[in-house]
Amino acid sequence: GDEAHVEDVAFSFEGPFGKFDENQLQRGLKVYTEVCSACHGLRYVPLRTLGDEGGPHFSEAEVRAYAERFEVFDAEIDDYRPAKPTDHFPMSGDPNAPDLSLMAKARAGFHGPAGTGLNQLFKGMGGPEYIYSLLNGYTGEEKEEAGTLFYENTAFPGGWISMAPPLFEEMVEFDDGSANSIEAMSEDVAAFLMWTAEPKMMARKQAGFVGVLMLTVLSVLLYLTNKRLWAPHK
Ligand code: HEM
Repeated sequence: GDEAHVEDVAFSFEGPFGKFDENQLQRGLKVYTEVCSACHGLRYVPLRTLGDEGGPHFSEAEVRAYAERFEVFDAEIDDYRPAKPTDHFPMSGDPNAPDLSLMAKARAGFHGPAGTGLNQLFKGMGGPEYIYSLLNGYTGEEKEEAGTLFYENTAFPGGWISMAPPLFEEMVEFDDGSANSIEAMSEDVAAFLMWTAEPKMMARKQAGFVGVLMLTVLSVLLYLTNKRLWAPHK
C-alpha cells in the first residue's frame, strides 16, 4: 500500500544517556564498505574521524590502511592516488544513488499522529529506523517502468524503489562471529550512518547533561538564598 511502514528499533544511542556502540559502528562500516559503497558515497565524512573516540575508534594505523582502499583525485599532482586519512570518503559512484553521509538525519521514520509530533517525541525522528526498515522492507515484487526496474518496498514512500535489495543473508562476515542476518547487518549499518550524520552526538548529550546539572545546582542555591532573604519578614 501507500502507507510507508517503519519499525521501531532500540538503538544503543537513544535516550539522554545513549551511546554509540563502538563494535556496532565497526561492523556497520564493514557493511557499508563491502556492500553500500559500490554505489553510495559518504563525501562529507573525513576518513580520519574513523579514529575518533565516540566513533568506530580505530587505531591510527588501521585508519591509514582503510583509507588506502579508496582512490582520490589530487589536483596538485593532476592524477589519482590512494586516499589518506586527511581525505574524505569518495562521492557516490552511481549518480542515481544519493550520498549517505547525512541520510540518517535527512529522513524521518516517525510522524503524526495528525501532525502533533507525539510519535517523534516518544520514538525519536526515526532516521536510522527508516534505513533499517528500508533494507528489510523488500517484498520480492518487481516491475519495469520506462526501462527502469523498481522493487516493491514497504518502507519507501510510494512503495517502489529503484535500489535492488542490497543485502542477502550472511553476506558480510564479521571477525568476531557477530550475527549477520539481514536484520543484524541492517541494524549495524543504520547505526553507522547515524554516526556519520551526527558524529558529535555523545559530546552533545554530555554537554547537555552538564548544563542541566549546573542549572539544578543553581536552582537549589537560589531557593535557599530566597528563603534566607525573606526569613526576617515572616
Ligand atoms: C537509495 C541505503 C546499497 C543504489 C538509497 C537510500 C538509502 C540507501 C537510505 C535512500 C532512500 C530514500 O530516498 O529515502 C543503502 C544502504 C546500502 C545500499 C544502507 C547498503 C547496505 C546500494 C547499492 C546500490 C544502491 C549496492 C547499487 C547497486 C541506490 C539507488 C538509490 C538508493 C539507485 C535511489 C533509489 C530511488 O530513489 O529510487 N539507498 N543502499 N544502494 N540506493 Fe542504496
